Amino acid sequence: AAPTAWSGRFSEPVSDLVKRYTASVFFDRRMWRQDIRASLAHARMLARQGIIAATDLAAIEQGMATITGEIEAGGFNWNLDDEDVHLNIEKRLTALVGDAGKRLHTGRSRNDQVATDIRLWLRDTIDDIDGLLRDFQKALLDTAEAHVDTPLPGFTHLQVAQPVTFGHHLLAYFEMLRRDRERFADCRRRVNRLPLGAAALAGTTFPIDREAVARELGFESVCENSLDAVSDRDFAIEFCAAASLVMTHISRFSEELILWMSPRVGFIDLADRFCTGSSIMPQKKNPDVPELARGKTGRVFGHLMGLLTLMKGQPLAYNKDNQEDKEPLFDTADTLSDTLRIFADLVPGIKVKPEAMAAALRQGYATATDLADYLVKKGLPFRDAHEAVARAVRACEARGCDLPELTLDELRSFSPLVGEDAFAVLTVAGSLAARDHLGGTAPAQVRAAIARCRTRL
Ligand code: ARG
Repeated sequence: AAPTAWSGRFSEPVSDLVKRYTASVFFDRRMWRQDIRASLAHARMLARQGIIAATDLAAIEQGMATITGEIEAGGFNWNLDDEDVHLNIEKRLTALVGDAGKRLHTGRSRNDQVATDIRLWLRDTIDDIDGLLRDFQKALLDTAEAHVDTPLPGFTHLQVAQPVTFGHHLLAYFEMLRRDRERFADCRRRVNRLPLGAAALAGTTFPIDREAVARELGFESVCENSLDAVSDRDFAIEFCAAASLVMTHISRFSEELILWMSPRVGFIDLADRFCTGSSIMPQKKNPDVPELARGKTGRVFGHLMGLLTLMKGQPLAYNKDNQEDKEPLFDTADTLSDTLRIFADLVPGIKVKPEAMAAALRQGYATATDLADYLVKKGLPFRDAHEAVARAVRACEARGCDLPELTLDELRSFSPLVGEDAFAVLTVAGSLAARDHLGGTAPAQVRAAIARCRTRL
């Protein structure tokens, strides 16, 4: 068997099954750029500190340039025998440049190396995701702008409650995504700390300069306890928690899209490119993309739960359990990124059907609260006004009509305070326009909100 990085210690090689079981190269190789970048920063520091020779550094730099070219060209031979991305690259480096390659690991362990690579990878990923969240927000704003005064029945308990505008409804998701971006930005501050220098767990006997490595790699600071630096993955858990919340928001939106697109509701249609048909029922146009997004939300929650569970029983410091952090983390990032990309494209393709929304508004007494508020403004205490309008609604229900279809005299039978001006209050446009304050659904407010949101993109 070929020698491994530790074969001096062992009398027999691992079985093929154990090799496959313990290896991570087939998923952690996606961090190869980060691994090389961190290795170069480490090597430069070692040379500056006089720990390795300048000629060693030059050889390492030249070897890493070759390896970069090989990986980019798809010609790098990733080898299961070398377990992970770190050993694969180090082994190739040594093959290329000899002893200088063997000196790279001075004052370093794979424990601090892998923690550094993940943080570098995650930092880049968070920056990408922030851009994708922004694109999604922009799509919501553009669509909201086209519908600042399109009336939509606002629901509570899935029953018509009060009119809102479709634009206002979309801006609710803008706000959720705004908090999501804040959460990622906050998470990024804790991701952006350098573990390298912790070595295996206790630090190293070499006179290293961690701050210099941190600066070169763009880390804001260094992890200040070596045990914590190599064993902690809470930054990855935080990322998955933030991702879970984004997915929660997208899942709620998906649920609404599915409902709105149901022929029984018919408020919207989705562009064909986000739907699929049925292999048996010719009439079907199914909202597969939102349904899958709702489903993939469960998958991301699972990764969060998996990582939490991965950490909870681990004693300090590094344990191999931590190798299991990567697949959930990568899959969370991939699932979230794809979902965001798709939704930024899906939102502009929403075809709004204002007639269906208006028809639904005529069926649910959507302006009943407005009539109660009207009576309050005429001097009736709110509880009494509520009572009077509730009785009017019951009368309408018995007759199968809407509140504005009652005559003035009929309305007055529930409260003598009702006047001719009550009919304006009962209109959807009147109801919308009346909610004219910060955060309200009046079209003027929605317009102002969109302007504010644009400055926050
Ligand atoms: N592939 C390992 C991981 O992902 C690297 C660290 C291995 N360290 C160790 N002592 N086995 O965590």
